[in-house]
Amino acid sequence: NGKKIIITIDGYSSCGKSTLAKQLAKQLGYLFIDSGAMYRAITFYFLQNRVDWNDEDAVAAALQNIKLSFIFNEATGKADIYLNEENVEPYIRDLIVAEKVSEVAAIGAVREFAVAQQQEMGIQKGIVMDGRDIGTVVFPAAELKIFMTADPDVRVQRRFKELYEKDQHITIEEVRKNLELRDYIDTNREISPLKKADDAIVLDNSQLTLEEQFELVMQWVKDATN
Ligand code: CDP
Ligand code: CDP
Repeated sequence: NGKKIIITIDGYSSCGKSTLAKQLAKQLGYLFIDSGAMYRAITFYFLQNRVDWNDEDAVAAALQNIKLSFIFNEATGKADIYLNEENVEPYIRDLIVAEKVSEVAAIGAVREFAVAQQQEMGIQKGIVMDGRDIGTVVFPAAELKIFMTADPDVRVQRRFKELYEKDQHITIEEVRKNLELRDYIDTNREISPLKKADDAIVLDNSQLTLEEQFELVMQWVKDATN
């Protein structure tokens, strides 16, 4: 199967989108782009530079000063995001950013900025991109669209475990609140809300191991590339 396709993975926070995307990209020799990292990096910039994101002119001016790029990291097997030539991966997953990112990602100018760059990265095909609006807005013609979901308690436990490894002060309640808040804002915003594309396949992985999930999805990839 030589045909290169575009695979989109959308869904709620912490259901394993990036993990699956990374596995697929490795197996298929595709580029993996974590679109959420772009919204997180923009939010990080706004926080660091005290940009008032309720002010349209301030947002427009700030976006002019932001250059995002992805550089593959051999050690992690995924691309790190660079904000104005600085690798900001170490900072963008923190709760300080997570608490504001959905607010920033709801802004039209921010989405236009990010989506234009995402679409450019897909021109060559051979790409797996995960996010919220990838199958609906960024690549509506993608050959394989996956909509991921998992039980909210399972998602909280998964994200808590990841964050706790970095910071032992974090509590389950903080993580739960953040996931609920982001899912609420992401599904209810006016522009490009999180929703399943009509032609997306639903993957509920609450009860699936990473191996089981991968096997299932690789079958879908075969079907889509044949
Ligand atoms: O990894 P996690 O599920 O926690 O979130 P993420 O994929 O890093 O995305 C962080 C936030 O960015 C989301 O909660 C959305 O508010 C926003 N986002 C978006 O609006 N559109 C995308 N395509 C990707 C992320
Ligand atoms: O990208 P998203 O926010 O959707 O999730 P993630 O960053 O991939 O994190 C999901 C976490 O759940 C990771 O620690 C995975 O190892 C774990 N997990 C999974 O992704 N899929 C399963 N079927 C089981 C666990």
